[in-house]
Amino acid sequence: MAISQEVDQFRNYDQGDAIAAVRENYRKMRTNQTVEYVQRMRTKYLTYDRPMDLWDAMASLNDLVDVSDPDLDLPNVQHLIQSAEAIRSDNRPDWMQLVGLIHDLGKVMYLWGSDEDGTSQNEQWGTVGDVFVVGCRLPDTCVYPEFNDLNADMHDTRYNTELGMYAPGCGIDNTLLAWGHDEYLFQVLSNHKTNLIPEEGMVMIRYHSFYPWHTGGSYQQLTSDRDDQYKEWILDFNRYDLYTKSQKIFDLDEVRPYYEPIAKKYLGEGPIFF
Ligand SMILES: [Fe+2]
Ligand SMILES: [Fe+2]
Repeated sequence: MAISQEVDQFRNYDQGDAIAAVRENYRKMRTNQTVEYVQRMRTKYLTYDRPMDLWDAMASLNDLVDVSDPDLDLPNVQHLIQSAEAIRSDNRPDWMQLVGLIHDLGKVMYLWGSDEDGTSQNEQWGTVGDVFVVGCRLPDTCVYPEFNDLNADMHDTRYNTELGMYAPGCGIDNTLLAWGHDEYLFQVLSNHKTNLIPEEGMVMIRYHSFYPWHTGGSYQQLTSDRDDQYKEWILDFNRYDLYTKSQKIFDLDEVRPYYEPIAKKYLGEGPIFF
């Protein structure tokens, strides 16, 4: 894999000018993402009534820079192409190359999002950032754990214990994660009739931002045996999500002829209903 910078230069949340914006995004995310909020966003956004051509959706990410990312200040579509190209250059399966290309596509939510939901261009705390389980105690493995106490659920006895509203070992598929682009795209593709992306790929899409679990090692009280397999898949994918970020600029129209047949193979020809 083409690693563009030293590994320890990534995900450093304590340095640089851009960090104030990253930190502020996390403060708002931790404050506002409660059980009630997540349920409300699922009802509001999982309507599957906005048909969009895959490539138009990709192009729309030319106008979005992820404010939670301390490592990259390029439009998000560049990150998607960089990830896909690294997976391709490692000769990984075609479906995984496609997953690299589209894994952040749920960020198109900004096109119909709002400031008050944290789903707009200006307010991204409901779209991007590492996610956590809502409905049980926030772990110290969250970035900026000092913000955990700002979450109203952490002062609600239904939700502020190790298990909160969950049964032991229920499995992460049965938890409610903070609302964001991972779950949005996962649900959109699950609802897409001609989706043939294999289970590994769907898991990579759904949980790639779940750092307190896949990298922090938290939530052992909730995970099941199946989640160990999930974690293997996600960590395999995660190297390409994280360590391929660079200033190298690609042109979507130039890479499209290579990826288009793969997209057709796994997603079919019609629009995707967001
Ligand atoms: Fe992402
Ligand atoms: Fe990503």
